[in-house]
Amino acid sequence: MQTVHSLDPLRNLVADLRQAGKLALVPTMGALHEGHLTLVREARARADRVAVSIFVNPLQFGAGEDLDAYPRQLERDCALLEAEGVDLVWGPTVEAMYPQGFATGISVSGVSEGLCGAQRPGHFDGVATVVCKLFHQVLPDLALFGEKDWQQLAVIRRMARDLDLTRPHVDRIIGVPTVREADGLAMSSRNAYLTPQQRAQAAALPAAMRQAIATIERGASVPAALAALDVALLAGGFTSIDYARLCDAENLTPLEHASTKPMRLLVAARIGKARLIDNMAVQPARS
Ligand code: PAF
Repeated sequence: MQTVHSLDPLRNLVADLRQAGKLALVPTMGALHEGHLTLVREARARADRVAVSIFVNPLQFGAGEDLDAYPRQLERDCALLEAEGVDLVWGPTVEAMYPQGFATGISVSGVSEGLCGAQRPGHFDGVATVVCKLFHQVLPDLALFGEKDWQQLAVIRRMARDLDLTRPHVDRIIGVPTVREADGLAMSSRNAYLTPQQRAQAAALPAAMRQAIATIERGASVPAALAALDVALLAGGFTSIDYARLCDAENLTPLEHASTKPMRLLVAARIGKARLIDNMAVQPARS
């Protein structure tokens, strides 16, 4: 496994890896957990060579967010990736990614505007910009992202479609199902912010979501199911709820009534220092 931090050696290595066949990219911000390693294993199954990027992207953090606190553990991450048979780790410095005078950004309207986009202005511009750069730097044939960041995945697919990114083509942006702890909590690098008590309480999030989904799938009122979800989270130890919405799974339009198309329940809620997000599929209503 080779680890590089600047563009010139990256370009040479990418050229070599591409000679060997299909190249997959797993973009990450590091602090790797089983969810990331699942992406890496899926990448290995689908491609001949695997590159992982590790970059805590300042552009996607707003003022007062956790950019400085975000866990950084490059050595440990590299050891985990080496054990998974990864070929290349691309860990650019901030200066390599955004050299002096950097002034270009990508903004995806529509899917990026509600949910986390409304709560975190500029966040998805930062994600789209860095992911577009990563695609151009690594030239992967396919790229893999966790479904836990469902809105992020929708934004990246939209960008790939709109900007005619052929490497990887939109059909080659693979969403991988969320990996969960035994109590159902979605794995996230931000779970590290939780105290042991908050970590135990955080299991209320997937439990309340499953309950709301069961209610909606039985045909109950969507607003009532979402209101009950809010109550369950606050009773379970969450301090506030940024949003809890039923949405069209593809374009993320909020829904007041169950639809006959695939739907997704998406939630962001705060507990202690952590803002946790999660999403789950909701079965379409019978037409
Ligand atoms: O999901 C993440 O870890 C980040 O948003 C990503 C896609 C690596 C871009 O910085």
